[in-house]
Amino acid sequence: MTAALDSVLSLAPLTAEHLSAVVEIEQASAFVPWPSSLFEQCLRDNYLNHVLLHQQQVQGFSLCSFGAGEAHLQNIVVNQNQQGQGWGRWLLNKTIEALAAVDAQRLFLEVRASNQAAIHLYQSYGFENVGLRRDYYQAPVGREDAYVYVLELPKPR
Ligand SMILES: CC(C)(COP(=O)(O)OP(=O)(O)OC[C@H]1O[C@@H](n2cnc3c(N)ncnc32)[C@H](O)[C@@H]1OP(=O)(O)O)[C@@H](O)C(=O)NCCC(=O)NCCS
Repeated sequence: MTAALDSVLSLAPLTAEHLSAVVEIEQASAFVPWPSSLFEQCLRDNYLNHVLLHQQQVQGFSLCSFGAGEAHLQNIVVNQNQQGQGWGRWLLNKTIEALAAVDAQRLFLEVRASNQAAIHLYQSYGFENVGLRRDYYQAPVGREDAYVYVLELPKPR
């Protein structure tokens, strides 16, 4: 499935010209969307950022902070209209390949306890649940827990 998508999807480094599309996708998909200033900061800091392109259009993105061999998946989103057709798994796979290529050894992430789609994706990919952060996220009512997941990354080929 992931390999079959290689002919229709492509990955590119996130640049300033993608920011408006990325912010739009984020605003449509997240309960508490990141402000555009946070995306701009990701362009400056020690991040590995990618966009998923379909027919030259930005349809998703992944943002990873990276340092000292450890990476942190800060955000991964597929355009709401395009979810559920394997693009999220494809983007996660390509992001992990890119991290392995710069010698990252493990990838951490937090995910809302209610986010069944993302949890299914991470668990089926092989991420291990290594912790719980109580009341980590703002929720529609009160706060919501985060699960912490980690994946040991493959050695670069
Ligand atoms: C999480 C996200 C990136 C997944 O992208 P996607 O393109 O919809 O995912 P895929 O189509 O590749 O599906 C990945 C897996 O999740 C499963 N899945 C998708 N939606 C699901 C749902 N609502 N409940 C349970 N599983 C679901 C799919 O069945 C698939 O598993 P499979 O390959 O074993 O069949 C996407 O849902 C998204 O952008 N969500 C909003 C932002 C977000 O929550 N990001 C994660 C932050 S931690």
